Amino acid sequence: MVARRLVHVLPDKPMVLDVGCGAGGMSVALVEALSARGGGTVVLIDAVPELLDAATSAARSAATYETDTTTATVRVRPVLADLAAERPVEIAGPAQLVWASNVVHHLPDQRAAVLGLIEAVAPGGWLALAEGGLDGKFLPFDLGIGEPGLQDRLAAARAQWFLRMRENTEGSVRMHGGWNLVLADAGLVDVTAFTYLVDHPAPPKQAVRDWAVNRLKWHVDVAGDLLHPADRRTVRQLLDPQDPAFLGLRDDVFLLIADTVYLGRKP
Ligand SMILES: C[S@@+](CC[C@H](N)C(=O)[O-])C[C@H]1O[C@@H](n2cnc3c(N)ncnc32)[C@H](O)[C@@H]1O
Repeated sequence: MVARRLVHVLPDKPMVLDVGCGAGGMSVALVEALSARGGGTVVLIDAVPELLDAATSAARSAATYETDTTTATVRVRPVLADLAAERPVEIAGPAQLVWASNVVHHLPDQRAAVLGLIEAVAPGGWLALAEGGLDGKFLPFDLGIGEPGLQDRLAAARAQWFLRMRENTEGSVRMHGGWNLVLADAGLVDVTAFTYLVDHPAPPKQAVRDWAVNRLKWHVDVAGDLLHPADRRTVRQLLDPQDPAFLGLRDDVFLLIADTVYLGRKP
């Protein structure tokens, strides 16, 4: 839905950059959206080889998938690069769409990083920056074990981790203001934003349970030390496949996320 909305306004056979593509969820969506409207090129950029490989395989499989209505060619080009050291415009560009989801907040100077992304946008092209929204929820309020309200305490620990992560990033520069202001100050026009929901209510499909298990593991990895020991015990039970409370087998997990996308056009 988001990919289709973003590519809808692009000229024929556009160049699209997926910056900080991760494992390629959006890369696949971008390839499919371009396939449905005449083809183009998707350049995948990430600093982690394993993620870039996974994204490339997934995007290339989507690019070769053909139906009666989907016959256009989409080129997929992976580029291994550290965005803290390299300028996207030197890697690929000019692009009619630069998509950067949840990557800029990992870079030391976020404002400078946005300027770097804008450099790679062709005149008339778009920057789409997915940052912020609402924290994903996936746990019922009372899990039947531990203190109720674990989800909120996970979110509080994550917020503390985020602050710590920004402070500990070498060369970190404070941004002073929201993303729309950064885009407008950088000279983009038609600056706007939209938010979309990802909503998989309970009872879940197994893919949702698996997502919840991975998400909880991520919470533990980044901010487990900030949780109360009693919550850490609860989390261990939720992640233990031998425990009756195991998240991967529960019928009351769900997935509810709101993600925001900031948009601006280069004049
Ligand atoms: C939170 S993930 C987001 C992945 C994907 N865009 C998404 O929204 O699901 C951040 C991604 O940015 C990549 N990344 C972080 N710092 C980077 C850097 N300095 N240069 C290039 N990629 C980077 C990470 O490897 C990871 O794939």
